[in-house]
Amino acid sequence: RGLLVLLLLWTLGGGVADKRRRYHRIQHGQCSYTFILPELDACHGGGPPSQTEPYSGSQSRASIVQRDSPPIDGDWSSQKLQHLQSTMENNTQWLQKLESVIQRSMRPDITNIPSHVVHNQTAAMLEIGTNLLTRTAEQTHKLNVVEAKVLNHTSRIEIQLLENSLSTNKLEKELLLQTSEISRLRDKNSRLESKVQMLESQQRGELEDMREEKNRLQSVIRTQMAAIESLEKQLRVASSNNSALQRQQAQLMESVHTLINMVASATGTHTHTHTHTHLWRDCADVYKAGQSVSGMYHIYLGNRTEPVQVYCDMETSGGGWTVFQRRFNGSVDFQRSWKEYKMGFGDVLGEHWLGNEVLYLLTSQGQYSLRVEVRDWEGNPAHAQYDRFSLASEKQQYRLYLRGYTGTAGRQSSLATHGTGFSTRDQDNDNCDHCKCALMLTGGWWFDACGFSNLNGIYYSVGNNIRKLNGIKWHHFRGPSYSLRSTSMMVRPYDF
Ligand SMILES: *[C@@H]1O[C@H](CO)[C@@H](O)[C@H](O)[C@H]1NC(C)=O
Ligand SMILES: *[C@@H]1O[C@H](CO)[C@@H](O)[C@H](O)[C@H]1NC(C)=O
Ligand SMILES: *[C@@H]1O[C@H](CO)[C@@H](O)[C@H](O)[C@H]1NC(C)=O
Ligand SMILES: *[C@@H]1O[C@H](CO)[C@@H](O)[C@H](O)[C@H]1NC(C)=O
Ligand SMILES: *[C@@H]1O[C@H](CO)[C@@H](O)[C@H](O)[C@H]1NC(C)=O
Ligand SMILES: *[C@@H]1O[C@H](CO)[C@@H](O)[C@H](O)[C@H]1NC(C)=O
Repeated sequence: RGLLVLLLLWTLGGGVADKRRRYHRIQHGQCSYTFILPELDACHGGGPPSQTEPYSGSQSRASIVQRDSPPIDGDWSSQKLQHLQSTMENNTQWLQKLESVIQRSMRPDITNIPSHVVHNQTAAMLEIGTNLLTRTAEQTHKLNVVEAKVLNHTSRIEIQLLENSLSTNKLEKELLLQTSEISRLRDKNSRLESKVQMLESQQRGELEDMREEKNRLQSVIRTQMAAIESLEKQLRVASSNNSALQRQQAQLMESVHTLINMVASATGTHTHTHTHTHLWRDCADVYKAGQSVSGMYHIYLGNRTEPVQVYCDMETSGGGWTVFQRRFNGSVDFQRSWKEYKMGFGDVLGEHWLGNEVLYLLTSQGQYSLRVEVRDWEGNPAHAQYDRFSLASEKQQYRLYLRGYTGTAGRQSSLATHGTGFSTRDQDNDNCDHCKCALMLTGGWWFDACGFSNLNGIYYSVGNNIRKLNGIKWHHFRGPSYSLRSTSMMVRPYDF
């Protein structure tokens, strides 16, 4: 008895004593007390590895979680850790203080101190120790929780990272796909461009060819036009030569005839002293005098001393016909006044109207027949013949009287036979009470009201000649609206 040894092995933060022996031994007299403190290793969990654990027990732990993840939200967790550290320090300080108090109170009167006091004190101390330990354990638990949270956070971040990298991969793949698509399109485009260029060059070549062809054709046309012009010139010269020749021929014939007559009277076989013996009254005379060639001749009418140029038809139905109307190509305009129809117009060798006055004088010389020759655009000829034909004087509007119709241009006459007056646009002598046939049907004619014929209407060329009411009409041959191709009207003595 006598010596109390209090062996308190309390190692604090970084102490050199054995960390595994957590016990206190107290000797009191014959009794010795040994207190075994709870082993910290037995507690589950541990402190974070990056922190220096003030409590030594945790340093031996081997199960340290290693992470190569990036440091996490250091702010919050480090604050919490600091707070825990300071609490631990506080506790440690407090413990140190307590120890010193115990030592002080025991040393001066160790021997006097009754054992129960020591006991009590020891018990209190133990209680305090126990409290401390539980608190430490709680702190450790808290630390564990924090660590778990940190780990959760980290893993969440990792998951997110993984997801991010996955979506990045997806995006990369898509980008790659689009890039290849773009390059494919570019390829296509360049191929198309080259094709277009090829086509363009081809077209340019074709255009060039066409231009050349056009130039060639133009030059051909120019040369052909020149040729046509020269041909036209030649034709003009030739035709003028022709008509001049015809005229010359007629004059020659006439002079020959005169000479023959003179010779005949000179020989004395003929005692006829009448100066007019050799002067023809009409084409019948010319024919009887031995002229059998159609053409222009000179005749003398009544007591007139001036000859009249007429065209003689020596071929139709026995010849000897004095022609007073001819149309065959529309070269002469038949829209004329009363005076022009009276005096006549046109070229005796071409289209013409001999003149109403000459016709009146001619047919006043005797009894005459009329023959009308017509031809349609299909080449069909037809004629109308009247045994008797006479014309009144101008005072009686050149009235027309006809008799004895025969012919192929219709079963009946297309000309009115009962004494119809002659009308022009400026002299209305027709049988229409309220109209002017010469204005409606054009030309000058023996219009009835307005009748079945008008050989002096407008000349229509082929193709334009149907459905024409004001054309060259002979109703009973080709109907009321067909315009004929050629006509001629001529007279011959009834007893020819
Ligand atoms: C530590 O002790 C001091 C005073 O000693 C006190 O102010 C502080 O709040 C204590 N810290 C903790 C975490 O208990
Ligand atoms: C110590 O404990 C005993 C009984 O357990 C008690 O009677 C006594 O008063 C206590 N002494 C002190 C100083 O607390
Ligand atoms: C992580 O924390 C969330 C809530 O913040 C919780 O729903 C989830 O279960 C936790 N995960 C783990 C592995 O603890
Ligand atoms: C007829 O034509 C020839 C050329 O072919 C010309 O020399 C002559 O003068 C012409 N005669 C008449 C009358 O036009
Ligand atoms: C022509 O003769 C007729 C009689 O037959 C006569 O009345 C007339 O005056 C004559 N004309 C001329 C121009 O001689
Ligand atoms: C019509 O014939 C005449 C005589 O043959 C001729 O001079 C004229 O040029 C011709 N006109 C037309 C348009 O054919």
